[in-house]
Amino acid sequence: MTTQNAQATSITLRKPDDFHIHFRDGQLLDLTVNHAAERFGRVGVMPNLIPPVITYAEGLEYRSRILNALRDGNTLDPLMIMFLQKTTSVECIKSAAQSPEFLGIKYYPSGVTTNSSSGVSNLKDVYTILEAMEKNGLPLLIHGESPAKNVDVFDREARFLEDQIEPVLKDFPGLKVVMEHISTSQAVDFVNAYEDRIGATITAHHLMYNRNDMLGDGIKPHMYCKPILKRATHQDALRKAATSGKACFFLGTDSAPHGKGQKECSSGCAGCYTSHAAIELYAEVFEQENALDKLEQFASLNGAAFYGIKPNEETITLVKESWTPEAQFTAGDVNIVPLRAGEEILWKIK
Ligand code: NCD
Ligand code: ZN
Repeated sequence: MTTQNAQATSITLRKPDDFHIHFRDGQLLDLTVNHAAERFGRVGVMPNLIPPVITYAEGLEYRSRILNALRDGNTLDPLMIMFLQKTTSVECIKSAAQSPEFLGIKYYPSGVTTNSSSGVSNLKDVYTILEAMEKNGLPLLIHGESPAKNVDVFDREARFLEDQIEPVLKDFPGLKVVMEHISTSQAVDFVNAYEDRIGATITAHHLMYNRNDMLGDGIKPHMYCKPILKRATHQDALRKAATSGKACFFLGTDSAPHGKGQKECSSGCAGCYTSHAAIELYAEVFEQENALDKLEQFASLNGAAFYGIKPNEETITLVKESWTPEAQFTAGDVNIVPLRAGEEILWKIK
């Protein structure tokens, strides 16, 4: 349900879902979970905790910690994701596949991003697990970057597509695959080529920014994420894909909080925090692309359809009213600088 005119001042859509989010744990949950709940009906919860969420039981325990963090009046359905290991058991795959509380299994090439050292290096090493996932209908969510340190950081996504993913799609024709946080025109082309069987999430920050914003005029550590922001031609391709209305592209913020000190230092962590304003930021992009009428499809319908779940019944309304987010949030003894800290945002949740 979308209302819009040439210069929309208000837009109502089914409550969106964020199919890729990092909540972390402990003292961060109050902040991260409630920011998400104010905007989203369901979230795909990434498992790269220390230690990672590997088993079905660990996923359920983490889920109850998340639910316990919900403030009065907030609701959210966290959909859990297990961290793919060589030791991932077929029992865990079967349990997760049968459980509406689970979304899939995440493949992080070992060492490719924050807290991923316990990952697998190559999908060829886990073929028996992929077979079980295909058989039981459990989706594989992929951080698609080559982990090889000699591959240029800007080329790691394109290289991953060439090296790792095509053979898996051929060998497991029934496996459902999501390319997470795509960042290049090559990935857009790739997903389009396999649109009937793979999906892709796109973050707000990859739609809003390119590497010039991050590096062109003073280094901006809070824009540093994996996959790293690319040049403007890639950003344009992502903006076209997200606003195309095509079913294979859907919302996943990859909101990933790190303490201010871990971002503003000599070897900063990768990850942008966007949960405080996620759907508002997507609305800005869709408006700039003259595609507000496609926002509901991208944010509330496509992902649900991909995962075979019903769209949310509830709605949210966004109004064209500017506001300025905090310069930083405090969660326990951690300070988090969100994206667009202290800068005007044009859409607001009513
Ligand atoms: C994520 C994190 O901090 O957990 N970082 C990031 O830059 N996106 C991990 C990830 O999704 O790569
Ligand atoms: Zn992520």
